[in-house]
Amino acid sequence: MATLDWIVEPAARPLRGVISVPGDKSISHRALLFSALAEGPSTLHGVSDGADVGATRRCLEAMGVAVRDTAEGGLVVEGQGLEALKAPREPLDCGNAGTAMRLLAGVLSAQEFDTTLVGDASLSRRPMGRVTRPLRGRGARIEGALGGPKGDETAPLTIRGLREGKRLFELEYDLPVASAQVKSALLLSGLFADGVTALREPTLSRDHTERMLAAMGVPLQVMGPVVFLDPNGWSRALQPLTLRVPGDPSAAAFFVAAGHMVEGSRVKIREVLSNLTRTGFVEVLRDQGGSTVVDPRGASGGEPLGDLHVGVRGASVLRRGARVGGELAVRCVDEIPALVAAAAVSPGTSRFDDLAELRVKESDRLAALGSMLAAFGIAHTVLADGLALEGGRPRGGAVVDSLGDHRIAMAAAILGLRAEGVTTVRDVGCVATSHPGFREALVSLGASVKEVEG
Ligand code: S3P
Repeated sequence: MATLDWIVEPAARPLRGVISVPGDKSISHRALLFSALAEGPSTLHGVSDGADVGATRRCLEAMGVAVRDTAEGGLVVEGQGLEALKAPREPLDCGNAGTAMRLLAGVLSAQEFDTTLVGDASLSRRPMGRVTRPLRGRGARIEGALGGPKGDETAPLTIRGLREGKRLFELEYDLPVASAQVKSALLLSGLFADGVTALREPTLSRDHTERMLAAMGVPLQVMGPVVFLDPNGWSRALQPLTLRVPGDPSAAAFFVAAGHMVEGSRVKIREVLSNLTRTGFVEVLRDQGGSTVVDPRGASGGEPLGDLHVGVRGASVLRRGARVGGELAVRCVDEIPALVAAAAVSPGTSRFDDLAELRVKESDRLAALGSMLAAFGIAHTVLADGLALEGGRPRGGAVVDSLGDHRIAMAAAILGLRAEGVTTVRDVGCVATSHPGFREALVSLGASVKEVEG
């Protein structure tokens, strides 16, 4: 099958305009899945149109959950309670979506029927032991493959049904790495369990599951990176949701970064999720001298949102390198590709530390970012758990392979705006997993990005 490439011209003028981004991917997955377990219909607006969230929807439909598109562009999910999922006829295909696979593993561990979770080549290489091990620790019966780079357990995951009348049991667990997917899988399994679920993360990862489950009436206690779910005395009924999903900050980050990279730009991105566990990238860019303004726009479903403005207050250009590490690294883990692109054209040295997790994302993102920087001639060192680079002028004629990773493709595209000549980004079909309209949005701001057959 023919692949698609982008041909990116250096920006001839500042980026100007107002755009929207798809609904937040993390919240969209959760809204669909949790609604499917609720008692009655949930109405969702602004659900991500990316392929990843589409995979979650199809998995739920394969288990008998009715999901309807409304005339107003929303979705109605007909929840029938915690016990209503039915055995799918075929393996559930999570595509490229780690969130779909890991969260579903939590729910499916508590069912009485068998299921198999499969994914694409990239997802099939990603470590699943981080969810299967603690789930087994509370009685789940899961068989995985041993296909990971370090012999870690991977998909396909076959999850055996619990014997009739059996339930998962209590779990007290310290997560070795901060991971919202692992935390969420364990909390979801806890909805069905006898006994409490007590989890502790090294630092707080995105907390959308906690917020959404609490809004649905689940008895959760949250104390920063510690969360406690005690189902004793609870009806085990999740109240349906009425929700407008805020814009995805991980999608917005590429436009915020681009606005800081192309001098004189003025960009507004409407109604973006401004949950602090997700906005670390704004802090990093501010420390570099960037002036992103977050204009609060209220809240939706227990999550804050705001319009993001770049270049409204003073110059948007970055004056020094980026510093990322520690808990800040967790709060911008998905935005590192955008931040690396911005750092590559900022004066001075940038350091990205404490990012070993990037080795096991949709690609080995540290290696992929290293290859991207090499293609643009930017001096850099790839570290075991990070990256150091010296900002400069990206050379023209760079050819960057996305390696099937949407965020590498988008990072290369915005870096191309500052290159000395034309950039080719190869194999960009993967961008549809999170932001199908990315190229069009960038073009609407004045960039020249053409799509051609590879
Ligand atoms: C996500 C959690 C993060 C993030 C991913 C989405 C989620 O992964 O990188 O893109 O929706 O819970 P980890 O849980 O592996 O840190």
